[in-house]
Amino acid sequence: METIEDILKSYTKQFNNDLEKYFPISDKTEQRAVEAMRYSVMNGGKRLRPFLLHETAKIFDISYEKALPLAVSLEMLHTYSLIHDDLPAMDNDDLRRGKPTCHKAFDEATAILAGDGLLTYAFEVLNRAEIDNDKKVELTILLSQSAGAFKGMIAGQVLDLYTDTHKEFDNPEVIIRRTEELKTGCLLRYPCEAGAIIGNAGREARETLIKYSRNIGIAFQIVDDILDVEGNEELVGKTLKKDKAQNKLNFVSIYGVQESRKKAEKLIEEAENLLEIFGEKSRTLKKLSRYILTRNH
Ligand code: IPE
Ligand code: IPE
Ligand code: MG
Ligand code: MG
Ligand code: MG
Repeated sequence: METIEDILKSYTKQFNNDLEKYFPISDKTEQRAVEAMRYSVMNGGKRLRPFLLHETAKIFDISYEKALPLAVSLEMLHTYSLIHDDLPAMDNDDLRRGKPTCHKAFDEATAILAGDGLLTYAFEVLNRAEIDNDKKVELTILLSQSAGAFKGMIAGQVLDLYTDTHKEFDNPEVIIRRTEELKTGCLLRYPCEAGAIIGNAGREARETLIKYSRNIGIAFQIVDDILDVEGNEELVGKTLKKDKAQNKLNFVSIYGVQESRKKAEKLIEEAENLLEIFGEKSRTLKKLSRYILTRNH
């Protein structure tokens, strides 16, 4: 039986090959931001978000080619969020995907512009997809909300940075869940919902995929927080043990590694059960949810 690692490996190979075509090489001065965009996007990465989009679309018999621009646009947007997350004003990280972060490899201004460039390019690429216009509008709104400052990734990044000054929650688990759901969950939920949208999924199927994605989103971030404490730096490709140093409030800082892992396991079990309604067609998604728990990078 093919393992999820094998499946991801061959997916990543094909996806990277297609992704690269969106970044033509140029040595013109004005293209320095493009060079930095290309550097960060092509710098490894597990490609989980595009994979999720492709796999959910596949449940509804949507081809790899048809879903490709949507998957590419999401990976661009995700990479922008990483470039900005690593900036000195944010997490101040030197290492990403095993290589120097964008602002280290280039400079801070170029990294800011590369992030901006990826964010805007993502929406152009989304709209190049060969799908009905009403779907494009729906996906454009959904992606911008998922990444946005009201109830999306940016709102989560704000909570992550300013948790201690946040007065409206008194229960730390509520704050953490909210933070992780927003900063990480939203960009893992979007691909599952996007797959349902392009696949013309019915209401029940779409709702189920949303629930699945919410569970894996939180579990994914819990594992990220665990890896920060006890991961292998070479495998993870990021400087570890930074969350504590930067006083980040997350599941691990409140409950410790063991209890957090239990919480993640429960979320993944629930996610797997939700997929039952799709039968065999969701076999890979099921494997993927397990992988989220057991991953070492
Ligand atoms: C890192 O995401 C940022 C988080 C939301 C924890 P990934 O762990 O998916 O990063 P890449 O894309 O594989 O580098
Ligand atoms: C990042 O969370 C979430 C986003 C980039 C939106 P982290 O700050 O924990 O991610 P890493 O650990 O730097 O990848
Ligand atoms: Mg961060
Ligand atoms: Mg970070
Ligand atoms: Mg982290």
